[in-house]
Amino acid sequence: MNILITGGAGYIGSHTAIALANAGHKITIFDNLCNSKLTVIDQLTKILGFPVNFINGDVRNTPLVNKSLKENEIEGVIHFAGLKSVAESVANPLLYYSNNVQGSISLIEAMQQNQVKTFVFSSSATVYGEPTYLPYDEKHPTNPINPYGHSKLQVETILGDWAKSDPEVKASILRYFNPVGAHESGLIGENPNQIPNNLMPYIAKVICGSLPNLNIYGKDYGTRDGTGERDYIHVMDLAEGHLAAIDYLKNNHGSHIHNLGTGHGTTVLELIEAFQEINKVEIPYKFSGRRGGDLASYYSDANKALKELGWQARRNLEQSCKDTYHHLLISNNRAK
Ligand code: NAD
Ligand code: WQD
Repeated sequence: MNILITGGAGYIGSHTAIALANAGHKITIFDNLCNSKLTVIDQLTKILGFPVNFINGDVRNTPLVNKSLKENEIEGVIHFAGLKSVAESVANPLLYYSNNVQGSISLIEAMQQNQVKTFVFSSSATVYGEPTYLPYDEKHPTNPINPYGHSKLQVETILGDWAKSDPEVKASILRYFNPVGAHESGLIGENPNQIPNNLMPYIAKVICGSLPNLNIYGKDYGTRDGTGERDYIHVMDLAEGHLAAIDYLKNNHGSHIHNLGTGHGTTVLELIEAFQEINKVEIPYKFSGRRGGDLASYYSDANKALKELGWQARRNLEQSCKDTYHHLLISNNRAK
């Protein structure tokens, strides 16, 4: 299938590009590089062994998306392009509604103009909000607690309505839990342009000495050891989930929601321990107060994806820690 990957120079998109290309799909990456670098495209070319088709553009530029869909005879779109910082979304909500919601509308408009009706969307476990029960399954009420989460839920609603209005539309909504790790080559991984908000890339910055220590946000949650608990999923497992979703859409019209997680929770201290153990490094950390807006604990019920997509996470936390560190070593060597 000819697939447009918006946000394909970013963390999850670039790993998914590999999984798609290796499965025989023809990929075109569309990205404005607001949170990624052009070197990722070179690295993808190295990993895949052929030049990767790249368009530098903003998904809100409907005429450019239109032209890109036409010229590359696109049959399906995987939409990663978006902003993802919760704190930034609270400080600047309009930026998030413009980029994430208006960006998706612009993309769908261009798709409609080209009769492209297969769409996979990067949603997030953040749409669930404060858990009323755990693990979160797809029937758990949605109640986002910040503009980022609202922007994701609004796009989910738009996709549901689009699918209702046109019986040929096939939309897959994937709610990711916490992606970590890197491709086994170490050539690509998570390289945010700013100081990271997320735990694993922050740890990477501490280990390479760019940041002095990790701050653990809270030690008095009602979890096993008092630190926050999340469902960390290897980014290549996540990438393969997109492959499974594309396959599923071949025979399934309408809109479909699936959690992509491991089904297991890990606390911050457990993750630090696993990282130190497997990589034989020390992570300096100190405890600081709870981070505003954090939930104590959440993890997925991943059974629907297994039953319907035939997909489940195969890599464990140790593998994620190992691959994160491997990527760090390779990118530090490259920078020298
Ligand atoms: P990322 O920032 O690494 O990748 C997003 C990419 O989209 C970047 O390369 C950025 O330059 C590009 N982009 C952003 N706005 C754009 C626009 N208007 N036009 C074109 N390109 C644009 O983030 P990621 O971690 O790879 O996340 C990908 C998607 O998955 C995002 O939509 C994010 O909200 C969602 N998601 C991420 C996580 C996570 O923890 N990483 C969890 C759940 C959902
Ligand atoms: C994980 C745990 C922190 C950093 C966010 C978004 C969510 C999704 C994934 C996109 C928590 C603790 C973290 C640090 C720490 N993104 N932590 N020190 O908050 O679960 O989810 O990213 O959709 O929407 O909310 O991920 O990696 O930031 O935090 O102690 O420096 O690590 O308190 O318990 P989070 P995270």
